Amino acid sequence: MAKSSIPTTGPNFIKTGKNLTTITLETLLEWQKEHGELYYINMGPMPGFYATADLEMVEVILQKEQKRFRKSSLYDGLALMTGKGLVTNEGDHWLKQRRLAAPAFHKEYLANVFGLMMEEINTTMDHMGAKVGEVIPWEEEAIAVTMNVVVKGLIGSTLQGDTERFSDAAQLGLAHAMRLWKDPFFKFTQHLTGAKKKFDRENQFLGELIERFIADRRKTGNEGKWDIMAMFMAARDESTGEGMSDEQLKDEIMTMFLGGHETSSHTLSWGMLRLKQNPEVVDKMREEINRVVGQGPLQYEHLPKLRYVTMVVNEMMRIDSAVWTIARTSLEEITFPNGQTFPANTQFMIPIYAIQRNPKYWENPDQFVPERFENGTPKGPEKLKFMPFGAGPRMCIGWNFAMMELVSILTTLIRRFDIEVLTDSASYEAAITLAPTSPIHIKVKEREMEIA
Ligand code: HEM
Repeated sequence: MAKSSIPTTGPNFIKTGKNLTTITLETLLEWQKEHGELYYINMGPMPGFYATADLEMVEVILQKEQKRFRKSSLYDGLALMTGKGLVTNEGDHWLKQRRLAAPAFHKEYLANVFGLMMEEINTTMDHMGAKVGEVIPWEEEAIAVTMNVVVKGLIGSTLQGDTERFSDAAQLGLAHAMRLWKDPFFKFTQHLTGAKKKFDRENQFLGELIERFIADRRKTGNEGKWDIMAMFMAARDESTGEGMSDEQLKDEIMTMFLGGHETSSHTLSWGMLRLKQNPEVVDKMREEINRVVGQGPLQYEHLPKLRYVTMVVNEMMRIDSAVWTIARTSLEEITFPNGQTFPANTQFMIPIYAIQRNPKYWENPDQFVPERFENGTPKGPEKLKFMPFGAGPRMCIGWNFAMMELVSILTTLIRRFDIEVLTDSASYEAAITLAPTSPIHIKVKEREMEIA
């Protein structure tokens, strides 16, 4: 197909711009239905995107030829907060950092982090246990538990009095960063409305808080610490022997804070609505949990045996992918296996959400069926039809952490409580992550079975 014959979203770029800002997910599915797996999103005076759900192209962009692409302007706003952290870094410096950070996310090390994680999960469950019979906004509990888990996993302690401010500042920052990408006028209007000032203030608060944690740890040392920061501080470059500077540590910790809690919490929030629609899934999880975990506390060793719970988490991430899109820009001219050539500086959008709902790749894609993952996640040529954590060398570094966390939270929650989900659906904002913007109400009741 010649490039000129690639379908486009049409000349009405004002409408397109509006769609990108407001109703992205439905639009993405409509566009995919109408135009197929490759089309051009016309953004008028702004640089447009080639949206591609063509898995061969995706493989070239994210894996085979990934060095010929960089992250797109989608991440520029985020970089104002995360600096040269892994998500927003590029080239040799990114590679050096990725190598330094990777050991902290190996399964062997995460076994140590599991204990810290469970402390926070149990605290949240106790918090919910104190509200038996009351209406609980689940999305708030989900944000709280995933934030406390990631904070504890990263720095070994909680934020205590700063928790709420931290969470609000992080959410404001992420929303601001996304708006800079989606709204062509926001670059200017942010100064007029005071939004930029607010963003700078909250960003400074986050940065200073993290600097304080780093300074404290430098003073006390890492003796007896099994958190991720300890591993980051101990990491040395194989060839130069250099470690991470405090500045770099700050960027990485900020990156992990931001990348590591909304993603998991939104998965749990949307997941709760899916469980309401599919009560038999809860029964099956309970049966497995009883069999594998029994009466005692959940242990790290149980996790790989919780196969059905893992399938449920995978299906939650397929059907409501918390990261709904990723994007790249070509650094040089590139020709794809299908013969299409694109010049340097072409922007590509990889709409994970639409790929994971594409009927060409998934049978009944809008149905919640954990059994799809009976044999694990897709392999071989089909691998990229499931990519909630991205793919290739820049795939999510925290995916083992996230899987361990999500399986542990879901297991702990449903073994302790009977849950009544009062909400049928929620509105959303497709910010950097897919955030619910209306409450998901639940009521809980302690179950008979006691955890030892
Ligand atoms: C359900 C939970 C999560 C989801 C769905 C998710 C999703 C993703 C995706 C799609 C990417 C790739 C972005 C791209 O290619 O442009 C990514 C990258 C990343 N994620 Fe996650 N993530 C999750 C949890 C976490 C956690 C818990 C952490 C850390 C504690 C984390 C840290 C990162 C980092 C540092 C990167 C950048 C990696 C690099 O470029 O080298 N994520 N994540």
